[in-house]
Amino acid sequence: TDKIVVAIDGPAGSGKSSVSKAAARRLGFSYQDTGAAYRALAWYVAERGIDTADEAAVVEALRDFDYAIGIDPDNYFVRVGGIDVEEAIREPRISAIVSSVARILPVRAYLVELFRHVIETSDTPGIITEGRDITTVVCPDAPVRILLTASEEARMARRSAEISGQSAADVAKNLLSRDAQDSRVVDFMNAADGVTVIDSTDLDFDQTIQAVVDLIDAQA
Ligand code: C5P
Repeated sequence: TDKIVVAIDGPAGSGKSSVSKAAARRLGFSYQDTGAAYRALAWYVAERGIDTADEAAVVEALRDFDYAIGIDPDNYFVRVGGIDVEEAIREPRISAIVSSVARILPVRAYLVELFRHVIETSDTPGIITEGRDITTVVCPDAPVRILLTASEEARMARRSAEISGQSAADVAKNLLSRDAQDSRVVDFMNAADGVTVIDSTDLDFDQTIQAVVDLIDAQA
């Protein structure tokens, strides 16, 4: 039988990571967080003291970028050079520079191939891959493609609840400026042809997971 490939895109704070991971767990699928790869690369170049404005140096750093992820939702990890970076890559200092790494086209080309390889070599009945350009660039032919959205207010509120040590106003400012920068490179605010929109503004976490699982059950 064919592996079920599920592509989910959405803006920051839409809840797509936690929802995708929970839906994968419920279905016995693998889960791939592509934002983690951009964040891990941003962490790695920061670690090496490379200025992200120096695009050639960032591209050069890809040669030694030793990235590994666990796609089992119950045994999920992100490692660079064997170091667990799952927490470090979520820090505000990384969120602040990740867009400047993600806009470098050779970086995108490299990571898109890596994401496709992970999908091809996964050995579960299905895999949910989540990010900004999964429905349009990474897997435009996936049988299930979802744009997960939520109102700006809902996204800010959810992200504020996740992050401690930052005021709600700072969280909102950072999130909006990241979305604005990212939107210049990929369109994740509008659904491409054939992509189903799930608006989670008025859904709680469990209802959102259920909406995703129902769609996968119906379309796959
Ligand atoms: O999903 P998350 O917010 O962790 O993604 C971090 C960053 O990685 C985004 O702000 C964006 O710059 C980049 N990204 C991307 N394409 C993807 C996933 C993430 O450019 N498919």
